[in-house]
Amino acid sequence: MRCCFSVRIKAESPLQSGLDSKYVSKDEDNTSCKISSVPLTPRSEGEILEASNLKSFSFNELNIATRCFRPDSVLGEGGFGCVFKGWIDEQTLKAAKPGTGIVIAVKRLNQEGFQGHKEWLAEINYLGQLYHPNLVNLVGYCLEDEHRLLVYEFMPRGSLENHLFRRGSHFQPLSWNLRMKIALGAAKGLAYLHSPKAKVIYRDFKSSNILIDSNYNAKLSDFGLARDGPRDGHSHVSTRVMGTYGYAAPEYVVTGHLTTKSDVYSFGVVLLEILSGRRVLDKNRPPGEQDLIEWAKRFLVRKHRIVYVMDSRIEGQYSLGAALKAATLAINCICIEPRFRPNMDEVVKQLEQLQNSKDTGSTKSEVLHRHRKKRTEEAFNNRKAASCPQPSA
Ligand SMILES: Nc1ncnc2c1ncn2[C@@H]1O[C@H](COP(=O)(O)OP(=O)(O)OP(=O)(O)O)[C@@H](O)[C@H]1O
Ligand SMILES: [Mg+2]
Repeated sequence: MRCCFSVRIKAESPLQSGLDSKYVSKDEDNTSCKISSVPLTPRSEGEILEASNLKSFSFNELNIATRCFRPDSVLGEGGFGCVFKGWIDEQTLKAAKPGTGIVIAVKRLNQEGFQGHKEWLAEINYLGQLYHPNLVNLVGYCLEDEHRLLVYEFMPRGSLENHLFRRGSHFQPLSWNLRMKIALGAAKGLAYLHSPKAKVIYRDFKSSNILIDSNYNAKLSDFGLARDGPRDGHSHVSTRVMGTYGYAAPEYVVTGHLTTKSDVYSFGVVLLEILSGRRVLDKNRPPGEQDLIEWAKRFLVRKHRIVYVMDSRIEGQYSLGAALKAATLAINCICIEPRFRPNMDEVVKQLEQLQNSKDTGSTKSEVLHRHRKKRTEEAFNNRKAASCPQPSA
């Protein structure tokens, strides 16, 4: 779940940037006052809702569409609230019988207060204007009394997070090819956001915000923390630090200076999660393995040790060359110095090359070589652990 690193505030909206002096003085330095004085996005709530071209649902319609928000139709839950499955008519967009019409996902804000409303409005502001095959489609919203809901296209395969980290018969491990397809799709979504056409910094790139359709196309969801990128030649936008632990770029956490390279860092973290099948932060792992980046760094500095980082469930599905390229890309994205990180167009190019190359599937000798190395390493680690026990967490 995401959080604010420095202040206990759920979200900061892009909508207020430079629109209201009280937000500017609280939120942004002088540089960004100038940046936000020419916002490309609409200003007032009314303008945003009008400009969005989205369907405005009544609460009753969504109540019917989700069968009274039945607990058994819950698709998931995040910081914003629960997400329910529902049905609407394809033509009229009115509530339809379960199993007929089109399937929707209805996100219902369960949080009192202004911040949830700001996230809700930010989502409408961005997803109401931006269209791309790798961004989730927002169908409409509901604003009625205290109710705030968002209506999305249903993504049958749920989030990447579930596929990578949930165990059980429902979630078979994703193959190497599907992992690369999802990484490329998500990279394309981010590249589009950073393009001069959109000029948006996403700020909450993480595996739970990457949704997957029936053909394993990745789509970005959750624009509650998105911001307009810097304008007029400025290098960054100054913000309160918001995001999710582990995924946020270190320089952004320290300075609050937000750039597209902050998103690139988060992409690198997710790519590492995709390759390793490990969460960026996992308290259930032994000490020394809880922080994925720290743990993986030890192996990623040496070419031949890359195999120790890879998810053992996809062993044999990729060549060492392909794994090395993907891991090198991840390392470059999480480079401490933002200047040295690639931009998202470069990331897309490299992932496309990786997909197009015939360099997939291991040769027999590579696999044997890997097994041998892994056994040797495990034996070495066991000996080491026996001779110098780790302190408990
Ligand atoms: N359009 C959708 N189609 C299908 N499932 C969805 C859709 N949107 C969300 N979900 C499901 O609901 C879950 C919760 O999503 P949500 O974005 O509210 O929270 P989160 O991303 O897990 O956490 P956070 O609040 O930190 O963003 C997702 O992980 C996913 O499984
Ligand atoms: Mg989310």
